[in-house]
Amino acid sequence: MTALWTLVVITSLLTLRWLVRRLQLSGAKHPSLAGHARLSQLLARFVPFYEYDEDEFFAADDAPANVRDRRRRAFNDLARRLREKAPKTLAVTEDLEAGISDLQFIGRYRVPFQFRGLVRDRLPVGAVAAATQDRRIADLDGNWSLDAGGAYGVNVFGYEVYKQCIDKAAQRARELGPVLGLYHPIVADNVRRLKEISGLDEVSFHMSGTEAVMQAVRLARYHTGRSHIVRFAGAYHGWWDGVQAGAGNPRPPHEVYTLREMSKKSLRVLATRRDIACVLVNPLQAMHPNAGAPSDGALVGSRRTVPAGKAAYGEWLRDLRDVCTRRNIVLILDEVFLGFRLAPGGAHEYFSVNADLVTYGKTLGGGLPVGVVCGRAELMRRFRDARPTDVNFARGTFNAHPYVMTAMNEILLYLDRPEVRASYLDLDAVWDARARQLNDALAAKSLPIRLQNLTSVFTTLFTQPGRYGWMLQYYLRAHGIAMSWIGTGRFIFSHDYTEADFAEFTSRFVAAAEEMATDGFFWADAKLTDRWIRRRVLREMLEARLGGRRKKREGRVSAALDPVLLERATGLEPATSTLARLHSTN
Ligand SMILES: Cc1ncc(COP(=O)(O)O)c(C=O)c1O
Repeated sequence: MTALWTLVVITSLLTLRWLVRRLQLSGAKHPSLAGHARLSQLLARFVPFYEYDEDEFFAADDAPANVRDRRRRAFNDLARRLREKAPKTLAVTEDLEAGISDLQFIGRYRVPFQFRGLVRDRLPVGAVAAATQDRRIADLDGNWSLDAGGAYGVNVFGYEVYKQCIDKAAQRARELGPVLGLYHPIVADNVRRLKEISGLDEVSFHMSGTEAVMQAVRLARYHTGRSHIVRFAGAYHGWWDGVQAGAGNPRPPHEVYTLREMSKKSLRVLATRRDIACVLVNPLQAMHPNAGAPSDGALVGSRRTVPAGKAAYGEWLRDLRDVCTRRNIVLILDEVFLGFRLAPGGAHEYFSVNADLVTYGKTLGGGLPVGVVCGRAELMRRFRDARPTDVNFARGTFNAHPYVMTAMNEILLYLDRPEVRASYLDLDAVWDARARQLNDALAAKSLPIRLQNLTSVFTTLFTQPGRYGWMLQYYLRAHGIAMSWIGTGRFIFSHDYTEADFAEFTSRFVAAAEEMATDGFFWADAKLTDRWIRRRVLREMLEARLGGRRKKREGRVSAALDPVLLERATGLEPATSTLARLHSTN
């Protein structure tokens, strides 16, 4: 009997402990769909596609007739200008779109989907480029735009630097050619430099940032013997299933916890659970913790983000470091995007934190594709002496490709130049002053736009509620500013931008925004709040779901592609949809 009671008591205590941990985990999950992958998968099935007809398109905020007419005329005029400006570029783009699924995808997700039909018909965007020179990029019709797209973040030092890296790299690798499996001797120098930069013991080479993260996670699981990854809401770590649980990924979301960033609740989970192998951090989230990159395709209402600030984010990373050390959890800093942009030693130098594994990519390839993991020796090991069959077999045909290795060496040599090292000293001061200059110019014209920056990465905020913020990307294009497909949510500048270049960017930006204001797209009204907008969109969705709203041409497009809308419309932060995650970088 006593034995039975003892068993009951032990079982009850264990159950209670399990329950407490489970509740702690629930509390640490981000409250948006970002933190609830299963729910986002489920809800995505019920979000219907619908789109505005031409009248609804200009009246989505109930603006008066004269404003709607002004918008319509301006929209058609802008469409004509964009078409006349780049006929060749647009014709080639149209041809390409028929055969490239990625182009079909981004062509649909540049703007909130209700506006998509008319935008696709009338406001064309070229997807081909012919040349770059300094900070400018040319289309096939000879139009040169100022580049603020930054080649997905690869372009830290300026296109001319990467062109030279690639040319020299090809010369240096030519004698060996594309031999794989054997190393080009320059690899030794790369390894030496990367060890110094990262402060870690060993290096492995991969073909993309996605693969570097996959490898880092695989190593963490292999060495800890634990199953789960912790990642933070909104953070992008590449496109593989393992870090993209939720809508758009049909696999059941297990072995990933998506927690709140900068939260004590998350620290508590890390301090108590035994199944966590690693914590993945993308320090770019310092710009907007717990939210995905602010893309125009997900823009419903105003856009505001609250940056963490360098000191507070650094403190958060050090808190993470602390709990990871205590619990033997592997801390992985994913620097694929920010590596070499903030400091020569990368984000870990900038935020003063030491990771166990660091991933790099993008700019480190000197303009060619690459992924790199640097790590502590015991974590980088892919075999166990005592268990000869228990190997961590992760390799890749093109790893350490000679041409990539020589290009990497060129960029590392460039990084080591005294004048380049020195340029980091006042980098924040330079870019903060530029952001201020642009914001002062916008404020002087009473435009409802401000920019926020983390060094040379900028995001556009719309300071007043509205349905048409996404239109700014088209005005900017007409004024000669090139950006990535996610539009105004992410501008990425190269560090060779001069004061004169930035002054030109500022004047183009302000002129574009002024034109947009004149055309009625920033119309404001006391009624037009973010809440009003969300409710209206929700009502439209319900109507569409219940069949009260006509479904138009693209009604067959899978609702699962529209999780952003779902998150917005339900009033939850758009932190994690597939789209928002993609937008983080690409
Ligand atoms: C932080 C981060 N990790 C991983 C990746 C994936 O890199 P890649 O696109 O080279 O696979 C990216 C890409 O944008 C990124 O920004």
